[in-house]
Amino acid sequence: MDRIAITGGFRLEGQLAISGAKNAALPLMCASLLSAETLTLSNLPHLADISTLKTLLEGHGVKTKVEDDGQTIANKGQTISFTTPEITSTVAPYDIVRKMRASILVLGPLLARMGEATVSLPGGCAIGNRPIDLHLKGFEEMGATIELEEGYVRAVAPGGRLKGGIVNFPTVSVGATENIVMAATLASGTTLIENAAREPEISDLVLCLNAMGAKISGIGTKTLKVIGVDRLHSAHHSVMPDRIETGSYAVAAAMTQGEIELIGSNLLDVMTGTVGVLKSAGLDFTPTDNGVLVKLGRDKVKGINVTTQPYPGFPTDMQAQVMAMMTLCDGASVIDETIFENRFMHVPELTRMGADITIRGSSAMVRGVEHLLGAPVMATDLRASMSLVLAGLVADRQTFVNRIYHLDRGYERLVEKLSACGAHIIREDGKGI
Ligand code: UD1
Repeated sequence: MDRIAITGGFRLEGQLAISGAKNAALPLMCASLLSAETLTLSNLPHLADISTLKTLLEGHGVKTKVEDDGQTIANKGQTISFTTPEITSTVAPYDIVRKMRASILVLGPLLARMGEATVSLPGGCAIGNRPIDLHLKGFEEMGATIELEEGYVRAVAPGGRLKGGIVNFPTVSVGATENIVMAATLASGTTLIENAAREPEISDLVLCLNAMGAKISGIGTKTLKVIGVDRLHSAHHSVMPDRIETGSYAVAAAMTQGEIELIGSNLLDVMTGTVGVLKSAGLDFTPTDNGVLVKLGRDKVKGINVTTQPYPGFPTDMQAQVMAMMTLCDGASVIDETIFENRFMHVPELTRMGADITIRGSSAMVRGVEHLLGAPVMATDLRASMSLVLAGLVADRQTFVNRIYHLDRGYERLVEKLSACGAHIIREDGKGI
C-alpha cells in the first residue's frame, strides 16, 4: 500500500489552488438521475469518491462523458456530462455503497423518478454509527413505504410518485436534507423541509436543481420549500470550491509559520465558521484578487476552545486539522465534538508524535507542546489523515502516513499542491515498502 513520507520543518509559501468541493460534487452528480436530459458539471475534483460514484451512477443507466479531463491546465477540475435517458436499474449494490456512504444519495432521485429504489444500507464507519433513519422518515412523510431486508432498504412510492409533505428533521442532517430536496423536486404538490441543514454544499445543490427547472425557495435557510414539477431539464453547473480543503491548507500555512495564497473565488464566504475559529487562534486572512492570503499573525497559535456545530458553526470536518494545529498552541485548547460520537481516532496517532491530548467523552483537552516528533502513523478516516499530514509538516524528522487511500478520497493532488509550496513530502510506492 502507498504511503506519504514527510520531512517536517519547512515553511510553506506560495500559491495553492483550491479544488471543487467533494461534498458538493457528490449530491450534484446524483441529481443527474432526476432528468432524462444532460447535466454537465464542471470543476469536479479528481478524487476516488468521484470515480466511485460515477461507477455507481453508470450502473443505474447514467451515460457519462468526460468533456474535459482538466489535465491540460494545472489544478483545473474536470468537466463531465451525465445523461440518463432511462434508469436501467433501481438497485444500488452493497459492493459500491460500502465504499462510500454518500451513495445513499441516489435513493431520493431514484425514488422520485422511478417510484421505487433499493439501496444497500451503508453500515457503520470509522467516525461513528451514522444511521440513515432521518432520510427514511423523510421519504415516509412523502408517502413512501420503506422495508428493510437482507441489508437493503427498499422504498416504494404508491402510485409511482412521491407526494409533497412536511418533513421536519429532529436533528440537522446534511445528507438527509439533500436526499429529500432532490426527491421533492419531482413529487406531486409542495414539500416543506423544516430544520434543513444550511451547509453551502446544499445551497450549491439547490442552485443546480433550480437551473434544471426545479422550484425551490428558502436557499441557505432552515426551511426549504419545494414545489414539485413534472420533469427537470438539462443544465450546466460549476461545483463550488472546497471549504474543508481551504481550511486545511489555511491550517498548514499557520502551523509552518508560512504564507499561502489560496486561489479560488468566494472562499471566505463559504467558510465563515472555520474563519471565525482560525482568526481567534491568530490566523490572518487577507482577500486578494484571486482568493485569500493566509498567515499566522503571531509567534504561536493561540489555544482556544472549539465546538463543532452544523453550518454556519465550526464544521466537524475541520476538527481533526484544528486539533493538529492546537498540539503546538500557546496554552491549551478544549475541542468538543458534537456531531459524530467517535471522531477522535486521530488522537492516539497525534499522541504518538508527542502531542499532549486527553479525551473525556466527546471533549479533547489539548495542551500545547514545544515539538512534535515524526513517526509512522495510520489514519482511519479522511480528515484524520489530513491532521497527520499537517502534524508531519512541522514534526522533527520524518513522518510516514499510511493508509492514504483515505486522502485519495478527498484531497485532490495533495502531494503536488504542498510540494509546490515548499513542503518536503512524497508519495512512496507501496511495492517497495
Ligand atoms: C456530511 C458530510 C460529512 C460531514 C457531515 C457533517 C458529505 C458527503 N458528507 O455527512 O463530510 O462530516 O455531513 O457535516 O457531504 N444522523 C442521524 N440519522 C440520519 C442522518 C444523520 O442520526 O439519518 C446523524 C449522524 O449520525 C450525525 C449527524 O446526524 O451524528 C449529522 O450527520 P449528517 O449531517 O447526516 O452527515 P452526512 O450527510 O452523512
